[in-house]
Amino acid sequence: MCGITACAAPAENDVLDTLVAGLRNLEYRGYDSSGVAVRNGEGVTVVKREGEIDALADALGAVSPNGAVGVGHTRWSTHGAPTDENAHPHTDCSGEVSVVHNGIVENYTALRGELIELGHTFTSETDTEVVPHLVEMYRERGLSTEDAFRKAIGRLEGRFAVAMVVDDEDDVFAARDGSPLVLGVGEDRRFLASDVPSFLEHTDRVAFLEDGDVVRISADHHEITDLAGNPVDRTVQTVDWQPEDAQRGGFDHYMLKEINEQPAALDRAIKGRITDDGDVHLEDFPPGTFEDVGVVHLLACGTSYHAALYAQQILADRGIPAQVFSAGEYTTTPAPVTDDTLVVAVTQSGETADTLTSIRIAAERGARTLAVTNVIGSTAARDCDDALFIRAGPEIGVAATKTFSSQVAVLALLAERIAEDVTGSVDPDREALLSALQDLPEHVQETLNTSTAEALAPQFVGRDEQFFIGRGVGYPVALEAALKFKEITYEHAEGFAAGELKHGPLALVTSDSTVFAVFTGRHDEKTLKNVEEVRSRGAPVVAIAAESAHEVAEAADEFLAIPETHPVAAGLLANVQLQLVSYRVADLLGRSIDKPRNLAKSVTVE
Ligand code: AGP
Repeated sequence: MCGITACAAPAENDVLDTLVAGLRNLEYRGYDSSGVAVRNGEGVTVVKREGEIDALADALGAVSPNGAVGVGHTRWSTHGAPTDENAHPHTDCSGEVSVVHNGIVENYTALRGELIELGHTFTSETDTEVVPHLVEMYRERGLSTEDAFRKAIGRLEGRFAVAMVVDDEDDVFAARDGSPLVLGVGEDRRFLASDVPSFLEHTDRVAFLEDGDVVRISADHHEITDLAGNPVDRTVQTVDWQPEDAQRGGFDHYMLKEINEQPAALDRAIKGRITDDGDVHLEDFPPGTFEDVGVVHLLACGTSYHAALYAQQILADRGIPAQVFSAGEYTTTPAPVTDDTLVVAVTQSGETADTLTSIRIAAERGARTLAVTNVIGSTAARDCDDALFIRAGPEIGVAATKTFSSQVAVLALLAERIAEDVTGSVDPDREALLSALQDLPEHVQETLNTSTAEALAPQFVGRDEQFFIGRGVGYPVALEAALKFKEITYEHAEGFAAGELKHGPLALVTSDSTVFAVFTGRHDEKTLKNVEEVRSRGAPVVAIAAESAHEVAEAADEFLAIPETHPVAAGLLANVQLQLVSYRVADLLGRSIDKPRNLAKSVTVE
């Protein structure tokens, strides 16, 4: 939620375009308002606007603040409505100090009261505005800007990443505690941002800052210290992402691009992780790593929660007890943890606040923790005992697509590793599953090439509701498909375990509903009965099943075919078809597909 960016370039350069481009690459983190503060010889100019970044770009056209140093922000509102006044950057009374912030200052009410009593005037309803006023206060008391910044940061409670420019300093000052912040080291300039894609077109050399870090950047220098001013060492590493990864390419939307990237993403997810003799080889997890595991707890939110449910099914198939928890619930009602509990946090971004808190709770209770994530250097990757990366590449569309597929593929491999370690044997089904995972990139490509989702989509527009049903791994696919549908079309959609319909939801099924039924090749005969139940209530059924499933095709009104494969892989292929259905319907409805209303990619508040 919220994206911050900053750039320090050599004098005589103008960073305005860099900041705006950097914000566009972070817009997935929030799009209620945006703004920049640019410093030049005459001071700091702030321009900010309610709405998407195009509104800011229009406003900048009229003002054009030029300067070599600046900060920028794109907002997902927490405190205060999405207005020009509440947009970042926020300034002090004098207008000399400008601050952008991602996170929540929990003690802002007390700080604001204290500052108002001292004569400070506030112009927004945000928690952030206390920061520039605190800096102002400490500067007025004679502290250097850096010391005033440290002192101000030390007063904040909550989660934050902040960046600041002031009128009489060439450097950008920043700090993090709980919200992400990455340093980019370019050839002749330095960057700070909530996420790497912000500056990826300028540099792939990055250092992931950690909680408690304070950083100061100029064009050719950076200095990272702790709050007390002691130097800390953060390795500058090269990320394996290309600038094109963070661009739309020739596609109309990031979501469509990312759906189409799934073959390549899946290839990366499994590459080198299945040996020629059919073993699972997970870098840091050699055979035996999990032999002491008695039970697995999977913690996640949203789409990642559905990937976790998928993994639970795979583990259950192998006889490993596993429970899935919505991370937000786990933070209030944590499950009992025993010595042999392995907690697996599934999170694409590695920054979801509910998931991070649930990891902390699990660790406090003595559980061994493992993050399955897409982002190297993310908080989840650092907070967990171990991390396993899904290697999907940057995902910009708010609706998660390729990361779901990659999560499932990697979790399937992890499940095999755990099962072998715990049981001391290899399940007879493993060979077939691993071979299906290896075929997945090709099978997904075939599904993309042959899908008739676009042609069918018009008939799903304007229905009363859409239901998605499935069993086994088809159930998390049904949930995921319904989430995707409601998220980007704004139409009512629900997912159910196929057998559950008759226990209540069937009352809602009419000829104005569409029912999408997922068939994975396992227990299809039962799902066919459920199809009959809804068809007899007049609802048209769209079946997603293997091309050879003639009985299914005959029972349904419409059919979306997937290649023949193992049931675990079949669920993923069905999901690809349903991603395309949601995308096409949302497109016909003219929705804001990459930035659906009220949502943000990375939910960094609880
Ligand atoms: C779904 O399309 C969403 N983007 C959302 O549900 C997401 O999966 C959830 O917020 C969890 O995010 P994470 O994987 O980054 O933790």
